Amino acid sequence: MGEAELHIVLLGGPGSGKGTQAVHLVKRFGLVHISTGEILRAAVAAGTAVGREAQHFMDAGELVPDELVIRLVRERVVQPDAQRGFLLDGFPRTLSQAERLDVMLLDVGCTLSHAILLDVPEEELIVRLAGRRLCRMCARGYHLRFNPPVLQGVCDRCGGELYQRDDDNEATVSNRLAVYREQTEPLIDYYERSGLLRRVAGADRGPDEVFLCVEQILTPAAGAA
Ligand code: AP5
Repeated sequence: MGEAELHIVLLGGPGSGKGTQAVHLVKRFGLVHISTGEILRAAVAAGTAVGREAQHFMDAGELVPDELVIRLVRERVVQPDAQRGFLLDGFPRTLSQAERLDVMLLDVGCTLSHAILLDVPEEELIVRLAGRRLCRMCARGYHLRFNPPVLQGVCDRCGGELYQRDDDNEATVSNRLAVYREQTEPLIDYYERSGLLRRVAGADRGPDEVFLCVEQILTPAAGAA
């Protein structure tokens, strides 16, 4: 399989490192990054109709309705730049979304090549989300303990202000974890059965080491897929 045919689902709990890995993977493999969380947060910030519909679900740590997310993904997948390959980050996260994704992709003439699971224990997810900070200007991610900025509260790259995501507070995080367990974890079995699943240990090693592991899976010379 050539790199141009990579159609990847990145799976993992909230805070498992999907966004962190996605940034490097899209650069390395020339893919389009489709993060439903980012698309929805942008819609909320812009105050669009989609954003207004999604906001209260997101603030509560609940999933927004399947119908709305599927529509957003379909619109993005059919864009010309996505024809060179794409990485789906945070989608699908229910069985219904996964089944409908398969149908949608057949409809637009492609299939998934990999489902990569970043496996991280729940205790570690809580620590990661509590310490996550993002730059308001360039969106670069930091962690107060694992990847702190040089100057507290200031982005190393652009000098922008660092902030905590609205849904990274304790109560919302605990609901996001419960929603993940109940609604998204069944996808592990779904992709295992279809032969697409690749598990990557995402804890006890830094983002660079996790990246090397994912890169190996996606590099045909490494014998994957
Ligand atoms: P979304 O934005 O998808 O959030 P999520 O899945 O909860 O994932 P996160 O973005 O919180 O974490 P991540 O895995 O990207 O971790 P990160 O790399 O930042 O969704 C948000 C909301 O939108 C949902 O709750 C829902 O309401 C809605 N939504 C989105 N998609 C939907 C869908 N398909 N259907 C319905 N609703 C949907 O890393 C976390 C931290 O850990 C960072 O600080 C990072 O620096 C650090 N870190 C990363 N890797 C490592 C490492 N190896 N070692 C140490 N620290 C690390």
